[in-house]
Amino acid sequence: MPVLEAHNLQKTYRSDGVAVPALRGVDLSVEPGEFVAVMGPSGCGKSTLLHLLAGLDSPTEGEVLLDGHRLNDLNESQRAVLRRRTVGFVFQAYNLIPNLTVADNVDLPGLLAGRPAAEVAARRAELLATLGLADKADAFPSQLSGGQQQRVAIARALINTPTVLLADEPTGNLDSRSGNEVLALFRRFNAEGQTILLVTHDPKVASFARRVIFMRDGRFVSEMHTAGGGDPAQVIAKLVEVER
Ligand SMILES: Nc1ncnc2c1ncn2[C@@H]1O[C@H](COP(=O)(O)OP(=O)(O)OP(=O)(O)O)[C@@H](O)[C@H]1O
Ligand SMILES: [Mg+2]
Repeated sequence: MPVLEAHNLQKTYRSDGVAVPALRGVDLSVEPGEFVAVMGPSGCGKSTLLHLLAGLDSPTEGEVLLDGHRLNDLNESQRAVLRRRTVGFVFQAYNLIPNLTVADNVDLPGLLAGRPAAEVAARRAELLATLGLADKADAFPSQLSGGQQQRVAIARALINTPTVLLADEPTGNLDSRSGNEVLALFRRFNAEGQTILLVTHDPKVASFARRVIFMRDGRFVSEMHTAGGGDPAQVIAKLVEVER
């Protein structure tokens, strides 16, 4: 059974009475354990798609099924409960809470989900160790590099062992070394079974996904399967073809 499905997903924003169509009918099905990358020019609707898939915003038309649950059938608080249990979200700009320590940032979604503090702390310690941040638990986000902050954001996204990890340009703000480290972590978590859907502008990042979806003007225009081995040439060739 797919862990994530979208049917005819559409989103039109209204700003100052003007309709801005951001998604124009998207169909998607993600199976457990998949690693999917979404690419496309700025403004084509990638972040909008991710927000709708996570239930952070509601579609104008169409529906999302998360872990078999139809988001349209749930009210806001039921959606929040489902989201905490099933979705980890990594934002481009990390979105850590500045006046909380690393440990408290990572724990927060776990505590909000109502899990016992000791259990959450144990999972956090394990994640911080995996992410090379064991000695940063008591630091504040401002004391960390961009790459470290993004790793904290990844730990926070994984604290509830989500069914699916959604990431919006997780390496977009990082230098190439930090970006490579974050990418290596995504690959490792995927190898361990974590389902991942990420948005990226970077052909190298996309080339590690087994499936790459290309978007344009709010639609999926093409899809390719890769060996997942990190050869960007194939992705670049497809990008050139799609954006022509
Ligand atoms: N809250 C909003 N209100 C009005 N328009 C919006 C809003 N959010 C996004 N848009 C518009 O919807 C379209 C899609 O935006 P979106 O952020 O999904 O694109 P994107 O593919 O993520 O772009 P980028 O690569 O620059 O992050 C754009 O035209 C954008 O201006
Ligand atoms: Mg975006």
